[in-house]
Amino acid sequence: MRKRIFSGAQPTGELHLGNYLGALKNWVALQTEYESFYCIVNLHAITLPQDPATLRQKTLDLARIYLAAGVDPERSTIFIQSDVPEHAELAWVLNCVARMGELERMTQFKDKGKGEERASVGLFTYPVLMASDILLYQTDLVPVGQDQKQHLELTRDLAERFNRDFGETFVVPDPYIPPVGAAIMSLKEPEKKMSKSDENLNSTIFLLDDADTITKKYKKAVTDSGTEITFDGSRPAISNLLTIYHLLSGKPTKDCEAHFEGKGYGDFKSELAEVTIEFLKPFQERVREYDDDSLEAILKSGAEKASAVASETLKNVYQSMGIR
Ligand code: AMP
Ligand code: TRP
Repeated sequence: MRKRIFSGAQPTGELHLGNYLGALKNWVALQTEYESFYCIVNLHAITLPQDPATLRQKTLDLARIYLAAGVDPERSTIFIQSDVPEHAELAWVLNCVARMGELERMTQFKDKGKGEERASVGLFTYPVLMASDILLYQTDLVPVGQDQKQHLELTRDLAERFNRDFGETFVVPDPYIPPVGAAIMSLKEPEKKMSKSDENLNSTIFLLDDADTITKKYKKAVTDSGTEITFDGSRPAISNLLTIYHLLSGKPTKDCEAHFEGKGYGDFKSELAEVTIEFLKPFQERVREYDDDSLEAILKSGAEKASAVASETLKNVYQSMGIR
């Protein structure tokens, strides 16, 4: 049997180059070899307050982005999390397997919840819902960016604990974190990751940014002292920009360094803008291609395929626990 992949993204904010290079690009590359499930995780979105009309719209927009990025509905299953109710059901079961202490150690909760009394309980148990997403499909491999590594470790721990206590039920998944691109950094503060929720819009290149905006954002991007354009961990701003150039141009790293030898930051930034604009152009055209009806048809068939697998897993889980 072909090995299985599961991954997902939240339908909040706008997707950016970090999401593409850290996750989506690998989803597309891996779908030929693996049986793939790519989910729009709208139940994760409501762990923070969302406007209902916007959430509804963003959910469909994200499906368009998956397709435009190259996720092929003939090969991969694309679906919306809430269309398969087993996600929420298994999350409840796993909430009874997870421990307070292990969730308290999740750094993303600490960042997003900021220790606030008013943070939702859903935000606290968010990684358990993510574990449920993954384990429902007996997933072998989960392609994600670096920021999800800790959630994957929790998922593995929950799967192993469940298997130990109730008998072999879940496949224990491995993360797939790309060697380059797993953490694309902010253009303004290269010590922080590029993020959907950054208040400074100049920090982030969104996949739907127009040419002008892209050029301006790179112009305003911070650089390091010195003049060299090389991959060098001690010069995080330039390394980050060069990583983006390397991944979008497809040129080997050595060739990128050689190409910019003796050139200034100004030239580098305008070439980087060119490569980015060229790369995003066909993607942006494809995003507009899918009308609502064809999209709904893809999502409906995706939900049916996903349900068949998810219901089988949940049935086994309930059976082994004595839940009727
Ligand atoms: P999210 O937008 O938070 O739902 O994330 C969707 C996917 O993009 C996840 O696999 C993240 O790990 C990945 N991701 C988010 N931000 C970055 C970034 N700055 N660099 C690389 N990958 C990222
Ligand atoms: N937590 C992930 C993020 O914010 C999104 C996500 C939810 C996910 N469920 C998942 C990713 C299952 C991979 C597998 O990026």
